[in-house]
Amino acid sequence: MFYDFPRRFWWGTASSSLQTEGNKNKRGKSTWDIWYEKEPFRFYNNVGPNKLSDFYSNFKKDIDIMKELYLNSFRTSISWSRLIPGGTGEIDSDAAAYYHDLIDYLIEKDIEPIINLFHFDMPIELANKGGWANKEVVNAYVNYAKTVFSLYGEKVNYFITFNEPIVPIEMCYLYGAHYPFELNFKKGIGAAYNTIIAHCRAVEEYRKLDLPGQIGIVLNLTPSYPRSSHPSDVNAAKTADLLFNRSFLDPVVKGHFSKDLIEFLKENNLCPNAEKKELETVKNNKVDYLGVNYYQPRRIKAKENIPNPQAPIMPETFFDYYTEMPGRRMNTSRGWEIYPKGIYDLSIDIRDNYGNIPYFISENGMGIEGEEKHKNEDGQIQDDYRIEFIKEHLIWIHRAKEEGCNVFGYHLWTFIDNWSFTNAYKNRYGYVSLDLETNKRTVKKSGEWIRKTIFNNGFEG
Ligand code: BG6
Repeated sequence: MFYDFPRRFWWGTASSSLQTEGNKNKRGKSTWDIWYEKEPFRFYNNVGPNKLSDFYSNFKKDIDIMKELYLNSFRTSISWSRLIPGGTGEIDSDAAAYYHDLIDYLIEKDIEPIINLFHFDMPIELANKGGWANKEVVNAYVNYAKTVFSLYGEKVNYFITFNEPIVPIEMCYLYGAHYPFELNFKKGIGAAYNTIIAHCRAVEEYRKLDLPGQIGIVLNLTPSYPRSSHPSDVNAAKTADLLFNRSFLDPVVKGHFSKDLIEFLKENNLCPNAEKKELETVKNNKVDYLGVNYYQPRRIKAKENIPNPQAPIMPETFFDYYTEMPGRRMNTSRGWEIYPKGIYDLSIDIRDNYGNIPYFISENGMGIEGEEKHKNEDGQIQDDYRIEFIKEHLIWIHRAKEEGCNVFGYHLWTFIDNWSFTNAYKNRYGYVSLDLETNKRTVKKSGEWIRKTIFNNGFEG
């Protein structure tokens, strides 16, 4: 059967400044630069965010390759610490000019620029003030957002306030794995709440400027599946869903927090203080559209052992994860489950429970370790596994579209293999491979496949 996609469907890729640009002419530093300077051994092969594809110098060449592959849209982020070194105060004029040039070149090539404001890279000065846990940082972010809108708002049709805002919260406060490594669930919830307010206030500022475009947010949605239909498993999955999906989805799309979530937080003494004025801001500043990143679902079961009452409350106080499933497929390098139907399930949820808001799949992808071994004699990566992975997901997206979901695009993570947060170049995700020695780019077999797919606006499956 031929899977066809709507006219003007967004075929593209996503990336971020911190993972691609490099440090040329960059006068400010983010948490990642500082963490790497202090603890390089935490990064795969000791490779930090200073060894990148140098998109900063190469963006024209890279955009030319996008054009060759017929991509019609591209998301990247602005580096806050590049544009406003220190996070507040003067803008750096070289940085402002660079982003103008980048956006202009995308437009010249007829590639829709989707500009994101925050992709995990907080200026170190603000992180040292407590990051999202500090409302002063929210104010700084809102000023930064205003700066970006007034610089580029006349020519960018699609802004994104945050990429996966829950991830830095999880990584810092729940797993202690990212800067500033603080295990504290309650504080994490407060920081998440502040991030939501930061997002809504940025939307408010955007609307005040009466610009021609639209504004949205990118959320990583992880459908939560219970191990069984037993009520304790179902309840456990519901809690995970509330914490990791509805927590952000409800306020940004519906303009209010989920009642069930508030009840749960209150019962467990985890509820942040919400000011009336802030809740008004949430109510009045819903997004125009959503970006949805989908990599893997959550598989949840009820707790088997009663948690130690002395232990600090964490999400795992309420549920456990399970992996013991016959036929479970895994993305070998990352250990992430491959479950393409998840993309359909979350689409139906958006259709039925979130007013069928327009959304695009803003990230989906397969990170492969040791991809070099799939090179043919011409040096091209023969990534048939990635083609299969993309097809499987697109088939479910196609079905969602047929069933009335308002999906308008599919972006692969990523275009050119890029640096990953702590994993550096362990996993390669791109349509185009990057030679770390020479910086040479080579289109992979999947790149050729997407070119054909975009040309036909669909594929035979
Ligand atoms: C997404 C992020 O969560 O996953 C990207 O938005 C990231 O920045 C991608 O690179 C893949 O994860 P990782 O850690 O394997 O690079």
